[in-house]
Formats: sequence, structure tokens, C-alpha cells
Amino acid sequence: MSLPELPERMLMGSGPSTVPDRVLAAMARPTIGHLDPAFLAFADEANQLLRRAMRTENAATFPVSGTGSAGMETMLVNFLEPGDRLVVGVCGVFGERIVDAAGRLGIEVERVDAEWGTPVPLERLAAALEPGAAAVAVVHGETSTGVAQPLDGLAELAHDRDALLMIDCVTSLSGYPLAIDEAGVDVAFSGTQKCLNCPPGLAPLTLSDRARDRLAARQSPVPSWCFNLAAILAYWASGERVYHHTPPINTIYALGEALAIVDEEGLEARWARHRVASEALIAGLGALGMKPLVAEGDRLHSLTTIEPGDGVDEAEVRTRLLADYGIEISGGIGELKGRAWRIGTMGVNAAIEPVTRLVGAIAEIVEPMRAGEALERARSAWESTA
Ligand SMILES: Cc1ncc(COP(=O)(O)O)c(C=O)c1O
Repeated sequence: MSLPELPERMLMGSGPSTVPDRVLAAMARPTIGHLDPAFLAFADEANQLLRRAMRTENAATFPVSGTGSAGMETMLVNFLEPGDRLVVGVCGVFGERIVDAAGRLGIEVERVDAEWGTPVPLERLAAALEPGAAAVAVVHGETSTGVAQPLDGLAELAHDRDALLMIDCVTSLSGYPLAIDEAGVDVAFSGTQKCLNCPPGLAPLTLSDRARDRLAARQSPVPSWCFNLAAILAYWASGERVYHHTPPINTIYALGEALAIVDEEGLEARWARHRVASEALIAGLGALGMKPLVAEGDRLHSLTTIEPGDGVDEAEVRTRLLADYGIEISGGIGELKGRAWRIGTMGVNAAIEPVTRLVGAIAEIVEPMRAGEALERARSAWESTA
């Protein structure tokens, strides 16, 4: 039996993003053992590049085996215990996901909601943190809305109350300004399939010393075997390299290569490129009468939400983009279902060629659609008044 051919796509949705040949080639290198000194040297180098991409000196910085959600689960099961209070900033699907996952673990969740399309105000997080919370968690890049959550001042608030600051940086890492140590973040998890342009399957994680002290002081056993950090750190962050599970070796090759590409470009240049790509996209689609959903200062540069506007069948446009142009963009989810497109300009796609290719394709699809709608409206007005 032969498997079907797969088409080439330009991935400009919410992720995965387009993976460059260099990263795919790295992934195709021979699999070697997870205890082989050659693999361990490679992984150490990749983790050092990860520290640079995250702007952290944290010794415990490595990829969790699993997707971004595995990073979230690792954070929750290790640093919180049943009955602990966790403040969660919620302004989209991924804040909701933290609430859902924490609730399942018996953690007492205090949610601080903000309108979708805006970040959660610091003062409201501060008020919720007041009576002895164990941690505060926010989504730095909310992929469901295209909002960047400011972190300024949050670490001081948390640390003054002996709480940890935890962030989801799945869609922001390397595509939006983030400096883990400077921001005072204690636990951050990411994903490989967004601005790093690596296939999905790993969740880069970093832990501050404060977070590790919290782990050491834990009273109850970690309620997960797979994501038990004490055992996982014995492999990743101890000289002994004690086997816990077999990490996805070839995906780690890909991550190492993707991080090398980030390092060669430099973080500042990469962040700036993502900002300019988002501005170019908004300008191009603006000429077609389409508007960004998020106010300028709150925008996540790697993921832009766009309201397609009247007379545009948003689902039909996405279907045609994929079928006729080989371009993937995403529809709205949660509250934004049917109301917005989510367009990713992540890594290699934060560039003028992909942006103009997409804007040109949308223009070609939308103009006849709008002409059809205009004629339809004229006809039905005629029929209702004639
Ligand atoms: C902000 C955010 N957090 C968490 C996740 C979950 O990551 P994964 O789908 O890799 O499990 C995603 C995935 O899109 C995301 O965008």
C-alpha cells in the first residue's frame, strides 16, 4: 500500500508554521540513542540556544516531550498542589485552557477575565493576587485573539506575595519581544511549531531557581508520571543523565537547527521583522477594507486577527486559499468563530513575499465575491420594493 502524496503549503494560520528545508533536513539525520554522548552534546548545545532565544540563564531549560499543551500540563502538575490558589488571566481560548486544566487537578482557580481582543489589566491581576495565591499564570501571546499580554510589573507583584509568575509563550517565543529573566518569569512553556518554524511535538520549558525551590518544597506527590519534573530533570539537568523516557530524538535535531537559525538572525532583528510583517499585512488587507481586531499597542506581531467585513464569506475564502493557492490561514475560534481570520506571520513567513502572496490571493478571491454580494443586494432591494 502506498500512502497519499502531500501537497506543498504555505502555512500562515495559527500554527503549525512553514518548516524550512534546513530544519527538515536536520530532522532526517540518523536517529541515535538518547544516552549516546554525541546526542547529549547536541542536546546540550540546543538547550544553550534555547536559553538564548528565551533570554534566560536558567539551568533548567529544555524541551518537554509533547506539544505545547504538555508544557502547560508540566507547569500545572509540578508547581501547584490540590487546594493551592492559582490566578489566571483569561482573554481567549488558551487562558481558558489553563483554567480547565488546573481545575481538573483540584487547584483552586481564580480567573481574571478581560474582553477578547484586549489584554488582562495588571491592576485586576494584582487585586486577585492579594490573598495569598500560589501563582499567577498569563498567556503572553494569545493565539485565539492575537493579543500580546504585557508582563511589566507582574513579577514584582507576584514575588512580593510569594507567588510564582507562569507564562504561556507558545506563540510569542522568537516572534515578539520576550526576555524571561528580565521579566522575572518563573515558569515558561512554549511550542516548536510557531515562530521557531519547527515541526510540532516539543514544548520548550524554562524554570527559575525560585520555581525549583517551590518544587523541592512540595508536600504531595506530583499527580503525573509522564510529566514528573523531579525525574525528568534527572535526565536533562543533572550530570547523571538518568533515563526517564525516550525523548523524540529527531524532533530535538529539528529544534536545535531551528534555534540555530534564530540565533544567526539575532532576536532583536527577528522581533522587528515580525512587527513589520504584521504591519504590512494589516496595510495590505486594509486596502481591501478589512480591519484588524486588536488595537495597535496590544497586537501580537506573529498572529494577526482580521475581520473580513461585509460581503465576504470567511470560510469560503479560507477553503479557496487552501485549494487554489496552497495557503493556509485559520478561522476564529471560541467567541471569534465565524467573525475573524487568524493569520500567522511566523518565522520565515514574517516576510514580504509570503505577505504579498497572501494579500494578492485574498484580493483575487474577495473582489468577485463582493461584486456578487453587491448585485444580490441590488436585486433583493428591487424585488422587495417593486
Ligand atoms: C497560546 C497557545 N498555548 C498553548 C497551545 C497548545 O499547544 P499545542 O497545540 O502544541 O498543544 C497553543 C496552540 O496553538 C497556543 O497557541
